[in-house]
Amino acid sequence: MWQSGLTVGREKAARPCEETIDPMAADVTSTDEWQALRKHAEEIRGTHLRELFATDRDRGRRLTVEVADLYVDYSKNLFTDETLRLLTALAERLGLTDRIAAMFAGAHINGTEDRAVLHTALRLPSDASLTVDGQDVAADVHAVRQRMAEFAEKVRSGQWRGHSGERIRTVVNIGIGGSDLGPVMAYEALKAYRDAGLSCRFVSNIDPTDIHDTVADLDPATTLFVVVSKTFSTQETLANAEQARHWLLTGLDADADAVARHFVAVSTNAQRVADFGIDPANMFGFWDWVGGRYSLPSAVGLSVMLSIGPARFDEMLAGYHAVDEHFRTAPLAENAPVLLGLLNVWYTNFLGAQTHAVLPYSQYLHRFPAYLQQLTMESNGKSVRTDGRQVSYDTGEIFWGEPGTNGQHAFYQLLHQGTRLVPADFIGFSEPNHDIGDMHDLFMSNFFAQTAALAFGRTAEQVAAEGTAADLVPHRVMPGNHPTTSIVADRLTPATLGQLVALYEHIVLTEGAIWDINPFDQWGVELGKVMANQLAPLLTGDAPDLTTLDSSTAALIARYRTQRNR
Ligand code: F6P
Repeated sequence: MWQSGLTVGREKAARPCEETIDPMAADVTSTDEWQALRKHAEEIRGTHLRELFATDRDRGRRLTVEVADLYVDYSKNLFTDETLRLLTALAERLGLTDRIAAMFAGAHINGTEDRAVLHTALRLPSDASLTVDGQDVAADVHAVRQRMAEFAEKVRSGQWRGHSGERIRTVVNIGIGGSDLGPVMAYEALKAYRDAGLSCRFVSNIDPTDIHDTVADLDPATTLFVVVSKTFSTQETLANAEQARHWLLTGLDADADAVARHFVAVSTNAQRVADFGIDPANMFGFWDWVGGRYSLPSAVGLSVMLSIGPARFDEMLAGYHAVDEHFRTAPLAENAPVLLGLLNVWYTNFLGAQTHAVLPYSQYLHRFPAYLQQLTMESNGKSVRTDGRQVSYDTGEIFWGEPGTNGQHAFYQLLHQGTRLVPADFIGFSEPNHDIGDMHDLFMSNFFAQTAALAFGRTAEQVAAEGTAADLVPHRVMPGNHPTTSIVADRLTPATLGQLVALYEHIVLTEGAIWDINPFDQWGVELGKVMANQLAPLLTGDAPDLTTLDSSTAALIARYRTQRNR
C-alpha cells in the first residue's frame, strides 16, 4: 500500500509501505490482487462481447459514466463486473486514492526531479487558493493569466501594433513537444471559435523547410512570434527563433529594437529569455511543476488564447477543472479516468495488448492523436519503477490514430479481421460545428456502426445465410469481440476539449500509479539530444575524426559529407 496521509511540498512523495510489499523482492505482480486478475483473465478468455450483452440486456446503459459534458460508454470493453471489482481492488491496494490526493495537494510525486505535479492548479477557479512549498500557486497562476488576457485583448483589438505601426494579423508559435502539440491541437480543435482577422501558424521541426514554408508568404510587419519553451534551451526552438528573428529584421529592414513588438516568450527561464534578446516584460511565465506535455492550460496556450479570446480560453480551463474535480472526488469504481486507466492496464498486462487506437469522429480533432502520443507515451514509456528497480511487466501503451472516417478506409481492416488486440477510443459529437445537409448524421452513423461491428461482428452462419459462396465465408466472417470505448459530447467546444484532455491526463496518472512508474519525467529523451549536439560539428567541420564513432554512424556521416561536398 502507498502510505496514507499526504506528504506535501518538499517532503518525499508517498512510497510503497514495507509491511505489505517487500521492497527488495516484490512488485505489483506478486500482490494477491494481481494474481487474482491473472487467474480471472484465464477464466474469461474466450468470452465474447455477444455473450456479455446477451446475458445482461442493460449492459450498454449500465456500464457508462457521465463526467461533466462527456458521456463515456465503456460497455463494449472485454470485462465483467468481476474484472472491475478486481481492478479496483488492485488500485485500492496500491493506494491510487492517496496518489490522486497527493498530486492535487502538491506533493513532490515527480520523485526523480523532486517536483510537485500541479497542472491541475492551472485551471483552478479565480477564487481558489493553493499553497505549496510556501507559495500560493493559484495566485501566481491567476496573475499570469491576467497578463495573458490583457496582452491577448491588445493584440486582438489592434491596440498592440508592430514595429511599423501595423496591426498583427498572424501569430507564429515556435516550440516543440509540449510547447507545440497542445497549442496546435487546441487551435485546430477550436477552429469554429477563432476570430477572423488573426490566424496562427506553428513551427516545431528543426528541418529548415518548416520555418521556411511557414513564413514564406507572411508579412513581417503584421507577424507576431510566440517563442514557447519551458527550458528555453531546446535546440529546435532556439534555431527556429533565431531564424525567425533574422527573417523579421531583414524583412523590416530594422534593428534589434523591432524585436520587442514582434516577439514574446513563454518560459520558466527568464534569464535565458533575456539572453536570447526578448524583453522579460514580454515574457509569460510558468513553473517547474508544470510538465511540458501538461502545459496547454498554462501560458503555453497563449496562441490559443490569442485566437479564441480570453473568455473562451477560460471556458476551456473550466472544462478541465470539471474533470479534475470528478477525478479528485469520485469513488474509484465510478471515476471515469480511473475506470479507463484500469481497463488499459487490464488490456496491457492481462490480455496482451500492445497498442491503443484513438479515433476522433471530428475533423477538427485531427491533431488529437498526435497530442495524446506525447501525453501518454512520454509519460508512461518507462521501464524503471519509482525506486529505480526494473519493472517485470509491460508499461506504456503505444497510442496512435486518425480521424474517422479516414481511418476506416485505411487501417480498420486490421482492427476488424487482424490478429491483434487493439482497444480503441471513439470520440464523437451529437452536434457538428457545421451542419450541412445530412452529412453529420452519415458521419455519426459510421461511428455507431463501427463500434457495433467491432464488438459483435458477423458469424459464419450469418455470412452464409446471406448467400455467400462457401469458399468465401471464412474471408467474410467478422470475428467481433474487439473492444472500444465511446466518448461522446453534445458539441466540440472549448469546455468539452478541456474535459477530454483532462480525462486522458488522469488516465495516464492512473496507469502510472499501477505500474509504479513516474509519469512526470522524461529522461529517455536526453541521450539523443546530447549526441546530436556532439555530432553536429562532425557534419560541418574540416576533416573531422570519425574513427571514434561506431562503423555505421561513421559511414553514414562520411556519405552525408560527400553528398554535401565537404
Ligand atoms: O524532448 C522532450 C521535451 O523535453 C518535452 O518533454 C518537452 O515538451 C519538449 O522537449 C520541449 O521542451 P521545452 O518546452 O523546454 O522547449
